[in-house]
Amino acid sequence: MIMNSIFRAPERCLGLALTVFSLVILTLLSCTSAATTSAAATSATKTSVAAAAGQTDNGDPKRGQDLFQRRCTSCHNLDKEKEGPRLRGVFGRKSASIPGFNYSDALKGANITWNADSLDKWLTDTDKFIPDNDMNLSLKDPQERSDIIAYLKQLSSQ
Ligand code: HEC
Repeated sequence: MIMNSIFRAPERCLGLALTVFSLVILTLLSCTSAATTSAAATSATKTSVAAAAGQTDNGDPKRGQDLFQRRCTSCHNLDKEKEGPRLRGVFGRKSASIPGFNYSDALKGANITWNADSLDKWLTDTDKFIPDNDMNLSLKDPQERSDIIAYLKQLSSQ
């Protein structure tokens, strides 16, 4: 009996050591993979941000003019108010700043400047960007949005 337990003690010790060792390895492995995953996630986020920023840079104002005629002129004119406010010069303009136009409370409270970024968000889904506004439009095609924004930008720089 005594001999037995003396002989078994180192065995148990070895077993324990092995368990601890494998736990350490497992912990290390999961840490490394977590680090790799989060690094991958970060670079994925960076890529999509870059892509989103690029989209408004590659807009074609000529195509944008055409799209503007088709998608916006039912409610907007460049130089006078219709159902929506005039849009010449809107790029760079403060939101809800045409005097006398009856803006929604939502847009009056938005307090933003119309630039490539805010216009892109607005045209993607007006209601998601500024809930309860009076325009209610969603242009799903990023290229269409970039083209229209390029056109509005060109009008502002003339
Ligand atoms: C169904 C009518 C309608 C259509 C179509 C429409 N809009 Fe509008 N738009 C409005 C109305 C109404 C407002 C004012 C919204 C408010 O007060 O909440 C507005 C506001 C805006 C504003 C904010 C202007 C400011 O002075 O702050 C921009 C920019 C704009 N529209 C761009 C566009 C573009 C670009 C298109 C075409 C892709 C378009 N809209 C299509 C009705 C429309």
